Amino acid sequence: MAYEDKSAMIRILHVHKRYGSKNALRDVTLDIFDKEFLFISGPSGAGKTTLLKLLYLGEKVTGGNIIVDGQNLSRIPRRELPFLRRKFGIIFQDFKLIPGKSVYENIALVAEAVGTRRKLIRKKVGSLLRNVGMEDRADALPRSLSGGEQQRVAVARAIAGNPKIIVADEPTGSLDPESADVIMDLLRQYRNLGATIIIATHDTQRIRSTGGRVIILREGRVESACVIPKME
Ligand SMILES: Nc1ncnc2c1ncn2[C@@H]1O[C@H](COP(=O)(O)OP(=O)(O)OP(=O)(O)O)[C@@H](O)[C@H]1O
Ligand SMILES: [Mg+2]
Repeated sequence: MAYEDKSAMIRILHVHKRYGSKNALRDVTLDIFDKEFLFISGPSGAGKTTLLKLLYLGEKVTGGNIIVDGQNLSRIPRRELPFLRRKFGIIFQDFKLIPGKSVYENIALVAEAVGTRRKLIRKKVGSLLRNVGMEDRADALPRSLSGGEQQRVAVARAIAGNPKIIVADEPTGSLDPESADVIMDLLRQYRNLGATIIIATHDTQRIRSTGGRVIILREGRVESACVIPKME
């Protein structure tokens, strides 16, 4: 199927983002399709992180429009912001787990926040921990885990909210290759359950081994777009 025929989960239309006098994004127009596995790449300072933040209203556009799941972000009343945020699972390069809470609690908090019934939370968190291979570490605090382990927990936490969209900013940037493979596999599996996955990364080697559509940003503009087939 041609990309043009697919339905857009996110439409980015002539978006500008300025920080003071700095143009972080300039006239970016891009459709992100439902159930797509999309990489945003390009050099440092190109605007990758900025673009991701605009999608979940971590920042506001200074021009243009972004439509997420049919909803124009410029017209979302404040009281509806939590509903927008629930569509997203967010994964950061530095994990951002809550330091004083156990692995179990970090994940359970998100499950609770999206209204998972009390009785189901234990079961759900248990099954997420098994999926990411961390069932033995439920009671551990984040600081006692390796980077790869913390990122697995961060993926489980993102998934715990059943988001339609996962946004990951350099999720494998600080990991060894093996841990990075595990993280990418987990994201692929979640995509196969029907989610849209958007990953900002410098790591072109990994894009080649994973496959997917790649958008290259440069100085705040979309420089090119291509589809890399999955290497077997
Ligand atoms: N809060 C901010 N205030 C001022 N300038 C900012 C802010 N955030 C980003 N910028 C600037 O906007 C531009 C794009 O930054 P961004 O973080 O989106 O780049 P990036 O592609 O994610 O880079 P990297 O690969 O290093 O993470 C950069 O020039 C950056 O300095
Ligand atoms: Mg960045």
